[in-house]
Amino acid sequence: MRRRFRAPGRVNLIGDHTDYVGGLVLPIAVDLGVEVEVEPAERIALSSEGATVEVAADGAGEVDGWGRYPAAVAAELAALGRRPVGMDGEVTSDLPAGAGLGSSAALEVAVAVALCALADFALGPLELASACRRAEHRAVGVPCGVLDQAASLLGRAGAALLLDCTTLEYRYVPLPSELAVVVVDSGERALAETGYAERQQELAAGMPSRVRHVETENRRVRDAVAALERGDTTKLGDIFRESHESLGEDYEVSTPELDRLVDRAYAAGAVAARMTGGGFGGSIVVLAARNDAAPLAQELGGRIVRASDGAREITPRRTDSRPGRA
Ligand code: GLA
Repeated sequence: MRRRFRAPGRVNLIGDHTDYVGGLVLPIAVDLGVEVEVEPAERIALSSEGATVEVAADGAGEVDGWGRYPAAVAAELAALGRRPVGMDGEVTSDLPAGAGLGSSAALEVAVAVALCALADFALGPLELASACRRAEHRAVGVPCGVLDQAASLLGRAGAALLLDCTTLEYRYVPLPSELAVVVVDSGERALAETGYAERQQELAAGMPSRVRHVETENRRVRDAVAALERGDTTKLGDIFRESHESLGEDYEVSTPELDRLVDRAYAAGAVAARMTGGGFGGSIVVLAARNDAAPLAQELGGRIVRASDGAREITPRRTDSRPGRA
């Protein structure tokens, strides 16, 4: 029998370029994601839009393109002791790739939950997130933090995830029901890999503006949580604006297009807006009053997303009616 697993993408509300130095992040999982529908097999063979990748059940083998992600996940899980059970099936996605919504993490997590389920291999969500983070490094060499993978695994409907990337302690922060989240894709697909690693090296070398961004961003995550809990939308607007400026001026990961979109969002009546994720392109995140969200999304060419539950099996349960039996 084929089983289906789904892992969502994420939008980080605030706390960017903090995860890989043990800072605070506040993402939501979104109602867009990656699905794998598979049955157990000897090897791993996955197809997506007609292209099939195949590796051994422990990830060994030569792959390129998107196949590097499932191969790397299988290798990381094998290193943790997963039995080499393979799987055969399809990967589908309604999460745009390259929009900065965590599509590679969603793929990693969907594959990981499927591989664990088929081998009856149980790992806690944060162990699994860390394995997927290592898989990202292994697959494409991007030294990312755990933000995207943790959000995809731990997301919760109606809430943001406040995660401390040092202790991996987390709690949920309910989103005020009068606010909607809108994401707007800048359409820019800058090659973030080089700039991303470079920023980390500059931070590690103690470059003052980089350090200042991280310190002030961690403070802004705490302040944003307090403002969300008080329902203080004016304060949220200020905090998001400061975060965007800090990412642009101190961390230098924004782009003129992201800046323009953020300005347009505020001009169109957004409560709060900032670039989100790694930058160098990708998307902005906007908080808007529920009634303003649809016109605002339309004006900016964005879409409303909902805070959603994390990765899980979605195989339909068998019904009780068993054909052929009286
Ligand atoms: C990318 C990385 C994350 C995080 C963000 C910036 O999305 O994958 O780990 O570092 O950039 O916050």
